[in-house]
Amino acid sequence: MSGRLEGKVAIVAGAGASGNVIGNGQATAILSAREGAKVVCADLFEERALATVDTITREGGQSFALRADASKAADCQAMVRAALERFGRLDILHNNVGISVRADVLEVTEEQWDRVMAINVKSIVLAAKYAIPGMVKAGGGSIINVSSVAGLRANQSTPYSTSKAAIVGLTRSMAGDHGRQGVRVNCILPGLIYGPMTAPRMDDDIRRKRREAGALGTEGTAWDVAWAAVFLASDEARWITGVALHVDAGFLVMSPTTSVRLAQQKF
Ligand SMILES: NC(=O)c1ccc[n+]([C@@H]2O[C@H](COP(=O)([O-])OP(=O)(O)OC[C@H]3O[C@@H](n4cnc5c(N)ncnc54)[C@H](O)[C@@H]3O)[C@@H](O)[C@H]2O)c1
Repeated sequence: MSGRLEGKVAIVAGAGASGNVIGNGQATAILSAREGAKVVCADLFEERALATVDTITREGGQSFALRADASKAADCQAMVRAALERFGRLDILHNNVGISVRADVLEVTEEQWDRVMAINVKSIVLAAKYAIPGMVKAGGGSIINVSSVAGLRANQSTPYSTSKAAIVGLTRSMAGDHGRQGVRVNCILPGLIYGPMTAPRMDDDIRRKRREAGALGTEGTAWDVAWAAVFLASDEARWITGVALHVDAGFLVMSPTTSVRLAQQKF
């Protein structure tokens, strides 16, 4: 690896994987460490964070695991404090935490709506609230929020799509507010990747259809998201802020008929 994040300290919120396939947050934590960052792996489930830390330390990287509920202010504050105490600075905050509920407005309960918004959107606000002062002390920083192409398309999950669209707006607002402090804020919109959230619902036919939904016609994995995240976190992206980066094999440039066909597949 080329040490693109050498000397930097990163927090990855949602650094575990919820299944047997590598997750976006997990791949980002591992790749960031390979590129030289010291990485705080935070997750609601400590054992998931520990699994990621295990890979990093086996590869010779520096990392530790932390149990944190990113939708809770006290946990976000503790996450930032732990990074500063253990590693002395904070340069990168990768907000990967996200959950989905399959429901339209007729079906969704108030509790489900509030939960998705708290975990997918409020978590970013809270983590940033405590991270930004630490980043400013380090001379600036990079915040990367994980949105989704589902934020720009109907997805049979209205709370999820709404939360992911909100992340694009939140990212732009934060980028405007904190640019003068040297804090860049960008978001990534992963496409139909083969990851822990989606893999359990897939057979070969669905995987083929998802591949074919993108202009490139190839399957993406968490590593594709992680490479984009490393770029946005690195000094190579020093002049990039407020961007919504599609990592989707060209899914969003395909015709609307493709999206309708996908929406009918119930996956
Ligand atoms: N897989 C896809 O196809 C896809 C597509 C677009 C966007 N995304 C987005 O990518 C992100 C997650 O992807 P992943 O592959 O890492 O999924 P994942 O489910 O494997 O990992 C998410 C991790 O976040 C943790 N988490 C959940 N709630 C938490 C909370 N309140 N506090 C702390 N940690 C919490 C989970 O325990 C899990 O380990 C989400 O934001 C998701 O919306 C995924």
